[in-house]
Amino acid sequence: MKFVKFMLAASALAVATLTVACNNSPENKNTAAIKAGITRSNWGTVDGKTVYLYTLVNDKGDTVTITNYGGAITSFVTPDKNGKFSSVIIGFDSLAPYLHHPPYFGALIGRYGNRIGDAKFTLDGKVYNLAANDGKNTLHGGMKGFDKVVWDASILNDTVPSLTLKYLSKDGEEGFPGNLNVTVQYILTNDGGLKIEYSAETDKPTPVNLTNHSYFNLSGNTSNTILDETLMINANSYTPVDNTLIPTGEIKSVKGTPFDFTTPKKIGKDFADVKGGYDHNFVLNRKDSTLEKVASLSDSISGRTMDVYTTQPGLQFYTGNFLDGRFTNHGNQRITAHSALAMETQHFPDSPNKPNFPSTILKPGQIYHEVTIYQVSVK
Ligand code: GLA
Repeated sequence: MKFVKFMLAASALAVATLTVACNNSPENKNTAAIKAGITRSNWGTVDGKTVYLYTLVNDKGDTVTITNYGGAITSFVTPDKNGKFSSVIIGFDSLAPYLHHPPYFGALIGRYGNRIGDAKFTLDGKVYNLAANDGKNTLHGGMKGFDKVVWDASILNDTVPSLTLKYLSKDGEEGFPGNLNVTVQYILTNDGGLKIEYSAETDKPTPVNLTNHSYFNLSGNTSNTILDETLMINANSYTPVDNTLIPTGEIKSVKGTPFDFTTPKKIGKDFADVKGGYDHNFVLNRKDSTLEKVASLSDSISGRTMDVYTTQPGLQFYTGNFLDGRFTNHGNQRITAHSALAMETQHFPDSPNKPNFPSTILKPGQIYHEVTIYQVSVK
């Protein structure tokens, strides 16, 4: 059998040299000496803290790289139908571009994912003012959200590799009440699942809405538009928005609208009818908050499919409408509008100001706990 050395582009300086089978027949793919586990390399310094790049490898040779700067997933490398490996998540091969504030590439988002209208909310009779960093609204936690801080990291080489990140968001940070202790665990499973488990505790009531802002292009090449990918979202309704992308409060049926993805549909099919492109919260069909499959994305070029599982009530489907060519993906690929899409599992935007939406308020003594899995396979 013939072997090639596969060097993960995203960690050229790191230790992730895998030896994988070069035989394209499915049964022989990646059967060689793959060293599953997790390693780390030094990536630089931010706020006087060391930033690392962590490389998680499973026993099939799927590889995820994550930095503790913003907890960002920088790549998720999986094989396509021909056994060719590339990243389905967009990102950079070094720390520097992340410091130029790309729009949340791969990052952990908090304390409140998506928007809070007019940058304020009232809780227990008190008005809390936040920073307006998106017009008059607050987006993704404010000026310095969880995507721009250095997280404390620890690694575990168990049956599957895992990375645990912790961050203490202090009382008053970005205007939010309460010390919030956040833990996020990333696990790469042997069946191609990138599992993200979020937990948090507070010492004062506070809104909490944590998510991850990975942008996906399943073809592994951002010069292919995601409008050609096929999507299913198990959601019979969505939350319409005003012209600043704040939900109106209405929960509207997707039936007969471009928002109907209840059966698999090419993203581009009704795209022209959605002003500005998709950037909407879908109300997932669910009876409770058990972990279940809520969406599925597939791409005919690569043969990849990605199933999304979550415990969360909503999914923000965003077609990368604001991607503007300022940033370059792995392999020098340009990133322009619709080069990649996000599927942010979360609570609904602006819930602190929308009494009819499921509550996002975490109280002392309660434990916030949510799980999302992005599982990639080839058909
Ligand atoms: C989310 C929002 C979008 C945009 C992106 C980041 O997906 O819904 O409107 O702000 O984050 O650019």
